[in-house]
Amino acid sequence: MTEVHRKTVLLYEKHGKVATVTLNRPKALNALNTGVLKDLRDALVDAEADADIHVIVLTGAGDRAFCAGADIQELRDKSAIEARDWSLWVQEITSYMERVRKPILAKINGFCLGGGLELAMACDFRIATDKSLFGLPEVNLAIIPGGGGTQRLTRLIGKTKALELLMTGTRIYAEEALRLTLVNTVVPVEALDAAVEAVIKELRTKSAVTLGLLKLAVNNGLEMSLEQALYYEAECFGSALATEDSREGLKAFLDKRKAEFKGK
Ligand code: HXC
Repeated sequence: MTEVHRKTVLLYEKHGKVATVTLNRPKALNALNTGVLKDLRDALVDAEADADIHVIVLTGAGDRAFCAGADIQELRDKSAIEARDWSLWVQEITSYMERVRKPILAKINGFCLGGGLELAMACDFRIATDKSLFGLPEVNLAIIPGGGGTQRLTRLIGKTKALELLMTGTRIYAEEALRLTLVNTVVPVEALDAAVEAVIKELRTKSAVTLGLLKLAVNNGLEMSLEQALYYEAECFGSALATEDSREGLKAFLDKRKAEFKGK
């Protein structure tokens, strides 16, 4: 069944077990204004609450951009206090993306800059075409990233390269992003759908509840000391063992058959 909610600046579509969220301002290279971000947040809340949804895909409309960042027109009019509060709000959305108990795949075709890269970095997988360009070019506008970019880029690729990209505002091609482990996979544009489908197919063989626990263990654990994170991992391990799906997974192995998971 396909269910499509058409909003002006964001498309939200459910097909089978997959929810696809499309930033839909292609003429502005899908730049993020307040309306897009509000609708994105609503769509993610809906997808997380929907027991039928296993995987979420975030992408950009058109063939030029995933997203070219925050809407510069909108940014220009903000006072210091408004900009700080907006930054906190965008950070709240990107942090929420890391807490959503379902995998979020960024499907990237073209520019992935500024706030666009900040959204992509809050996703669990980044799958990109070889022509895609990545960067945090805020420094060229004499501003800095405010949606988590300074922190997530540093955690993903390390301080040396993060500071270089942040301070020079350099845009890098997908192959370089792959080398820096900023993205998972790089493919020609005609292979993008298939590459995303392949990951979805793989994830759909897993228990949805287990995927959620893995995501929490990694993302929450990164914010703790190693000792606390290991304890947290053990708590998540305990939760995993208490699921119906783990009973099924362990039993299926011992019965030498394929497991069938229900996400419970
Ligand atoms: C508003 C944007 C935009 C943006 C592009 N457009 N990026 N509008 N905000 N971030 C608009 C252009 O104004 C133009 O509109 C249309 O999209 C096409 O863009 P062009 O510049 O004409 O295309 P091109 O010459 O191919 O250049 C593409 C580009 C360039 C290299 C991506 O558009 C660019 O540098 N964009 C800004 C990238 C950036 O600085 N991002 C960071 C923003 S700050 P018209 O009407 O003229 O056709 C940020 C902070 C996040 O993200 C903070 C979060 C809290």
